[in-house]
Amino acid sequence: MDNGEFPLSEREFSRIRERVYRVAGISLSDAKRTLVVSRLSKIVRGLSLSGFDAYIDFLETQGRPEDDQNFVNALTTNLTRFFREDHHFDHLTSYVAGLIAKPQRVGKGARPRLRIWSAGCSTGQEPYTIALSLLAAFPELKRWDFRILATDIDSNVVNKAARGIYPASELNGLSAQRAGLFEKTATGDILIPNAARELVTFKLLNLIEAWPISGPFDAIFCRNVAIYFDKPTQGTLFDRLGQVLAPDGFLYIGHSENLQAVSKGFRLVGKTVYQRKANADAKDAA
Ligand SMILES: C[S@@+](CC[C@H](N)C(=O)[O-])C[C@H]1O[C@@H](n2cnc3c(N)ncnc32)[C@H](O)[C@@H]1O
Repeated sequence: MDNGEFPLSEREFSRIRERVYRVAGISLSDAKRTLVVSRLSKIVRGLSLSGFDAYIDFLETQGRPEDDQNFVNALTTNLTRFFREDHHFDHLTSYVAGLIAKPQRVGKGARPRLRIWSAGCSTGQEPYTIALSLLAAFPELKRWDFRILATDIDSNVVNKAARGIYPASELNGLSAQRAGLFEKTATGDILIPNAARELVTFKLLNLIEAWPISGPFDAIFCRNVAIYFDKPTQGTLFDRLGQVLAPDGFLYIGHSENLQAVSKGFRLVGKTVYQRKANADAKDAA
C-alpha cells in the first residue's frame, strides 16, 4: 500500500467495472484506473479490508445499502456549473414564451402546468439555472403550477444540491446580470433565492432502474450523463425519456452527445436540442 492506496490488479479492475456497469450503467474506461484507485482506496481503508478483491467480496456478500451507495458515489463524475451550455436556457425561454402565449396548451385546471426534469442534476446548478432563468424572464410563472424535478444517482450531490448554497467562486465567468440573480449569505457564499429553490424537488434516482415518475415533462435536461454509458444503455435511456416527454416537448443533451445512432424517437431541432417525434407516445399526465 503506497500513499494509503491499494494496488489494483486487472481482475480487481474488471470486477469493479462490471459492478458499476451493472448497478449504475457507467462504463469505466482504462483511463479511469487512477481515479478508481484513489477514490475507492479511502473506502477500502475505512472498512479495514485488505484490498479491492476483499472489498468487492464484501459488497457482494455483506454490503449494506449505504456501502452500495458509497461505491456508486465514489465512481460518478459530477462536474457542472451554472449556465453551462447556456444556449439551452435561451431555447427553453423561447419555448416557455410560446407556452405562455397559449396557456391552454399546458393548462388543465385553474393554473397552467409546466414540468421540467433535470436528469443527472449533480450538485444542482442545472435545475437552479432553469428556475432562475425562467423566473427572471416570466414573473407570471409564480402563479403557474410549475415544478422542476432534479434527480441524480449520487446521494452526496443530491444532498448538496438541496442546500442551495455554493462558494462565491461559482459566479466566476458569469455576467453581472446573471450573477445578480443569486443572493449572498453573511459569510459570502452564494444562496439560491427562495422563489427558485421552492420550485425544485431533488430526489435520488438511478436512471437505469425503474422511475417512480409519470410525466409528461415539457422539457428534459439530460446533459453530460449518457457520455458515461455505452450505446445500448444510452438508447434505452433516451427511448424512456421520450416516453415521459410531452408530444412537443424538448430534450436537451450534452455538447458531446448525439442521439443519432441510439434513438429514433427524436428529431434534432437545434444544437444538442431534440424534439420528440409526434408519433412517439408520451405517458398520461400524472
Ligand atoms: C457530469 S454530471 C452532469 C451534471 C449536469 N447535468 C450538467 O450537465 O452540468 C453527470 C451526473 O450524472 C450522474 N449519473 C451517472 N450515472 C447515473 C445514473 N445511472 N442515474 C442517475 N444519474 C447518474 C452522476 O452522478 C453525475 O452527477
